[in-house]
Amino acid sequence: MESDFPPLKNDLLLRAARGEETERAPVWVMRQAGRYLPEFREVRAQHGFFEVCRTPALATEVTLQPIRRYAGLLDAAIIFSDILVVPQAMGMEVEMNPGPFFPAPLDTPADVARLRTHVDVQKELGYVFAAIAQTRRALEGAVPLIGFCGAPWTLFSYMVEGGGSRTYQKAKSWLFMYPEESKALLSLIADVCADFLVGQVKAGAQLLQVFDSWAGELAPHHFQEFALPPLQHIAASVRSKLEAEGIAPVPMTLFPKGTNSQLVLIAERGGYDVVGIDWCIEPAEARRQVGGLVALQGNMDPNVLYGGRAAVEREVKRMCESFKGGRAPKGWIANLGHGITPGVDPEDLRWFFECVHKYSKA
Ligand code: CP3
Repeated sequence: MESDFPPLKNDLLLRAARGEETERAPVWVMRQAGRYLPEFREVRAQHGFFEVCRTPALATEVTLQPIRRYAGLLDAAIIFSDILVVPQAMGMEVEMNPGPFFPAPLDTPADVARLRTHVDVQKELGYVFAAIAQTRRALEGAVPLIGFCGAPWTLFSYMVEGGGSRTYQKAKSWLFMYPEESKALLSLIADVCADFLVGQVKAGAQLLQVFDSWAGELAPHHFQEFALPPLQHIAASVRSKLEAEGIAPVPMTLFPKGTNSQLVLIAERGGYDVVGIDWCIEPAEARRQVGGLVALQGNMDPNVLYGGRAAVEREVKRMCESFKGGRAPKGWIANLGHGITPGVDPEDLRWFFECVHKYSKA
C-alpha cells in the first residue's frame, strides 16, 4: 500500500507528468542504470543479466546506483528490469548474449500455440513486484519510482524476429501476410502488459512508462492499424483496473520512438499523460502541435554526451529554451531522446544534469 512507504520528498516528476509547469524541469535518463556506470559493470561481472532482474536485492542495488551517484541531481528512479521479461512470462526463452536472443522465435502464427494465453503476472513476474517494493523502501522517498513495460509492437518484433533487427523483415511479413493473427497476438501481449503494469502500481510504482522503441519503423497508417490500438488498450485498461480496485491512478508515459509525424494523433487518442519524443523534432514545434493535451518528455540526442562539456551545455541550453518557448506551457520532463549508451563518461552525464538544473529554471 502506498501509505506503507516513506513519504515522497521530491515530486517534481509527478507534477510535470500531470501537466504542471514546475520551478525547473525534472530530469532522468532512459537506461540510467546501465553499462556506462562502473558500479553496474561490477555487478554484471558477478551476475547474469536476467539474474539481476530476478533477484530483488540486486535489482534494487542497481536501480539505486545512479540515484546515489547523482544525489540531488536526478528526479526519478526507474526499476531495473527489461522489456523482454514479458515474452519470458508468456513462455518464451530469452537470453542476453550480449544483445537479446530468442532460441525459438515465433516463425508462423501456429507457434502462438506455444505461448501461455492466460499469464498469471503474480506468478511469472512477481519478482519485478518484489523488486519494486524493496526499491521503494530503499529510496526512502528521495525520488519517485518509475515502472515500465515494452509496447506490444516492439515486443512482437522481438518475439518474431528472435532478437534485434535492421529491417524488421520477419515482423513486418507477419503484419502483411497474417494481419488478423498479428492483431490477435498484439492484443494478447497488450493484456499481459496491462496486468503487469497494474501489478507494478500495486507494488509501489509511482509512474508508468511504455517503451515503443520500434514504433517509427512502421508507416503511419500501419502504426495506426497495428501499434496504436494495443497502446490505447493498455492505457484504458490500466486505468479501469486500478479504479475497480480502488487504487489511485498514476501518470502514464508513452515513448513511441520515431513517430513525430503522428504526435497530434498520439496525444489526442493515445490515452497517455506524457509523450516521450526523440531528437528528430524541435521541442517548441512538438509543444505547438500538442498544445496543452499532454506533458512532454525528452529529447536530447544521446550522442551529444560524446561531444564534450561545451557541446552538452550548448545543447541543453537550446533544448530548455525550445521546450520553454512553446505557446501553451505544460509539463516537461527533461531526458534524452533514447537510452544512454555504454561509452558515456558518467561525469559527462553529471554535467548534463547540472546544465538541465541551471537552464530549465522557470
Ligand atoms: O532505464 C533503465 O535504467 C531501466 C532498465 C532498462 C533496461 N532495458 C536495462 C537493460 C529498461 C527501461 C530497458 C528497456 C529496453 N530493453 C528497451 C526499450 C528502451 C530502448 O532502449 O529502446 C529495449 C528495446 C530493450 C531490449 C534490450 N535489452 C536490448 C536491445 C538490450 C541490449 C542492447 C543494449 O542497448 O544494451 C538489452 C539489455 C539491457 N537492458 C541492458 C540494460 C542495462 C544492458 C545489458 C547488460 O547489462 O549486459
